[in-house]
Formats: sequence, C-alpha cells, structure tokens
Amino acid sequence: MKIVTTIKEVREQVAQWRAEGLTVGLVPTMGYLHEGHQSLMQHSVHDNDRTVVSDFVNPTQFGPDEDYESYPRDIQHDAKKCDEAGADLIFLPSVEEMYPGGFCSFVDMNGLTKGLCGASRPIHFRGVCTVVTKLFNIVQPDRAYFGQKDAQQLSVIRRMATDLNQNLKIIGVPIVREEDGLAKSSRNTYLTPELRAEAPVLNRALQKGKAAIEAGETSSEIVRQIITDEINTAPNADIEYVEIVDWNNLEPTPSTEGSILAAVAVRFGTTRLIDNFIIERD
Ligand code: PAF
Repeated sequence: MKIVTTIKEVREQVAQWRAEGLTVGLVPTMGYLHEGHQSLMQHSVHDNDRTVVSDFVNPTQFGPDEDYESYPRDIQHDAKKCDEAGADLIFLPSVEEMYPGGFCSFVDMNGLTKGLCGASRPIHFRGVCTVVTKLFNIVQPDRAYFGQKDAQQLSVIRRMATDLNQNLKIIGVPIVREEDGLAKSSRNTYLTPELRAEAPVLNRALQKGKAAIEAGETSSEIVRQIITDEINTAPNADIEYVEIVDWNNLEPTPSTEGSILAAVAVRFGTTRLIDNFIIERD
C-alpha cells in the first residue's frame, strides 16, 4: 500500500492501473478511521481491482464554530486500518494541495441540503459537494463508497452525481455499530465516559420508532414522539432534530408508509452525534 500527497501522484498511479485494464474504487474519508470506514473499504476491495482511500479533513465543510481544528488526526493509525482492509493507495493531501491560493469555485445545491443537518450547518454540504467533486475528478473512480450513517450526505452525493453527469456509481454502505448499538463515528472519541454511556440511547430510540412502524404505526408525528421521548430519558441528551422525511426528496412526510428516512441529531455536551434508519419501499 502506498501513501501519496499530490494530485499528480494519484493521477499517475490511477493511469497506470487503467493501462492495465483495472477498475478503481474510491473511499473518501476525513481520517481517524474506524470499522465503519473499513467496511466502506472492504466493499470497495470486493467490487474493484484497486481501492483508493482519500484522507483529508476538509476545511470547507466546517462552519466557523465547528471542530475543524480539533478534529482527530492520526495518519499512522489510518495507514494501519487501510492496510488491514486491503486498500492500495492513500491520498493524503495538504490543504494547499486541495485549495491553492485563488481557489474560488464551489459545487452547491438548491434542494436536499436545507433541512436536517443543513439547517444548523448551512455551508456544510457545499463544502462536501465541492471536495467530493474534486476527488471524483482527481481519481476518476468507477465506484465511490459512502456510509449510510451520513444519510443526508449519501442522498446529496447521489443527486449531485446524477445532476452533474459524474461518470461513476455511488454505493451506500450500511451503518456499523459498537456492541451497545452506538453508530461508529470518529467523533465518539470526544465523549466523556459518562456521555459515552448515555449515547446508545440514539439507537435504542430509533429501534423503538422502527418497531412502532413495523407494528403498523403510520403517523410520522407519533413515531417522532416515540423517538424523542426515548432520547429524552438520557439526562445529557440535547436534541437538535428528530425528523421523519421522504427518503426520495428529504422533505418532511406526515405518513410512514412510503420510503422514509428517520434521522436524529443530538448533542451530548459539545459532541454532536447523528444516527438514522431508512425504510425503502417500492
Ligand atoms: O463523510 C465524510 O467523512 C466527509 O464528509 C467526506 C465525504 C469525506 C467529504 O469530506
């Protein structure tokens, strides 16, 4: 496995693979890799001849009061995780490599990004769409892999790839959880032991909501209330949103009967965690 830091090196390596007739998968990450990222890599390794992992804490997707500076970084740890999962190349660019002086072009979206996480993170998806488009242009993969934990991000990237005729397949990969149900996230490391002990309430609450739907509940409002009440049993849980939206357009929906995304964002102290479930119906 190789680690490279320049766009030129990535392009040369991918060109060589292409000349050999090999397919290429891309796993975009911000590093501090965990089993959730390794699951993305394993899917890519399974589907493609070669796998590129990008490891870049992207400044344009963080708001001014967010955790860009303190976001955990550890390349030794990341290299080990990539190696274990069978990745072939890590792209570890500097901020200057991705955003050289004079940079002023962005990819933005009108729909899908205003609600859910977009409501409290107004520039977030513009930064995500911009860096992901740059990575698609740099690597030109056959497939790119995104976790379902960031369900809005997955939906936004699928839409962007369709709208802008980006020539690749976007693959969504199921959430990987800790034994107690907490969705794996690089930000879990911020939690104190007390808050870490409370955080599995998110998955418990979502499971309760899902069970209600499976038992026949069709009112989004009632399911939303079930999820909210359960989260509120945790003394330090500060709810940002509990939403049930149409999975096709991320608009709020009064009924749980179609394809839906149930998504939550909750703060434990200063740590903001998200989780969700999706029910897809024809
Ligand atoms: O999901 C993430 O880690 C980031 O948003 C991504 C897709 C790597 C873009 O920086």
